[in-house]
Amino acid sequence: VIDLQDQHADFPQPNRILKLARRPVGVPVMTDWKILEEPVRAPMPGECVVAVDHISIDPAMRGWIDDVSSYLPPVRLDQVMRALGVGRVVRSRDDRLPVGTVVQGLLGVQRFAVVNGRWLNSVDESLGSARSHLGVLGQTGLTAYFGLFSVGRPVAGDTVVVSAAAGAVGSIVGQLARLAGCRVIGVAGGPEKCRFVREELGFDEAVDYKSENVTEALSGLCPTGIDVYFDNVGGLILEAALANLALHARVVICGAISQYNATIVSPGPSNLWQLLVKRATMQGFLVIDHTDDFPRARAKLSEWLSRGALLGPETVVQGDVDQFPEALLGLFRGDNVGKLVLSLDVSST
Ligand SMILES: NC(=O)c1ccc[n+]([C@@H]2O[C@H](COP(=O)([O-])OP(=O)(O)OC[C@H]3O[C@@H](n4cnc5c(N)ncnc54)[C@H](OP(=O)(O)O)[C@@H]3O)[C@@H](O)[C@H]2O)c1
Repeated sequence: VIDLQDQHADFPQPNRILKLARRPVGVPVMTDWKILEEPVRAPMPGECVVAVDHISIDPAMRGWIDDVSSYLPPVRLDQVMRALGVGRVVRSRDDRLPVGTVVQGLLGVQRFAVVNGRWLNSVDESLGSARSHLGVLGQTGLTAYFGLFSVGRPVAGDTVVVSAAAGAVGSIVGQLARLAGCRVIGVAGGPEKCRFVREELGFDEAVDYKSENVTEALSGLCPTGIDVYFDNVGGLILEAALANLALHARVVICGAISQYNATIVSPGPSNLWQLLVKRATMQGFLVIDHTDDFPRARAKLSEWLSRGALLGPETVVQGDVDQFPEALLGLFRGDNVGKLVLSLDVSST
């Protein structure tokens, strides 16, 4: 007989966990979630207890909670919400990850994660802060890197357009395209984000999709057409980019955030035939297909970062797992500039 009380006895703090209570319809609401406290179970051989410091808030989370099969199975009801995170090992039964190791992995929206060490990666803080391993040195920067260089394949002198340009991935894509010698135009919501990408990130131009006609604005700014369009948004902004392609353009389908909360199926871009006219290619990609190359790309991103050629903007929400539902909605309202992270400021053992 296993005495559960004994198993938990050596861990002094309860876990605070955000779980999926029901599947949202449209924009998630508070009652789609529940927050509870449970004891932290003792790690089994090979497992670690990780105190979660930073939780990555990602648009993809909205897809993970629909009951639709995708590149990952849906988060189950009453299961901890899936999330990438960074934290510290506070109990270890994996010799490779002693107590104190900073690790990254799918830690979930909770204060403590009990995870098999094989699913954790130790974080090299000499490359950048622990938190930046969720942003510019993490999935975000790697998405920008592989999406742009492997799929977009820009050449110096190309015109590159990126949507959600002031967001996590978009802000890095534009800077990498500038480093590759391209002319870069960002599409973002509002004058402040447009100023930010131009003046602080060095983009050549920006279009405010909330106040401008994007098709006309891109036509004026791209007289020879768009060579690489990096799409984070889908919908009407994708349509506006397709209307302005250059010959042999590459369209990178990275995300479609404008569709993630949709309750009715929206019609596709009305002008896909522009791909034919311009002999263009449109390709979807997933960053996780490039895992083997992550160390090489991360080293390159870190080098640019350390010599000030690349900025990794972040918006940090400070608090507890309770702040997660509202933080997630912030992505759809455009509250963030750069990578959105929930940092837990609870003291932990
Ligand atoms: N394929 C992959 O492997 C992969 C990996 C990571 C991320 N992604 C995708 O990449 C995209 C960007 O992700 P991220 O983490 O960098 O998020 P993010 O850009 O930091 O945040 C989302 C941004 O999207 C914009 N937005 C929200 N609703 C919009 C709408 N209806 N129309 C236009 N813009 C809207 C908002 O900026 P504004 O204020 O400018 O509206 C918001 O700040 C997402 O679609 C995500 O799913 C794909």
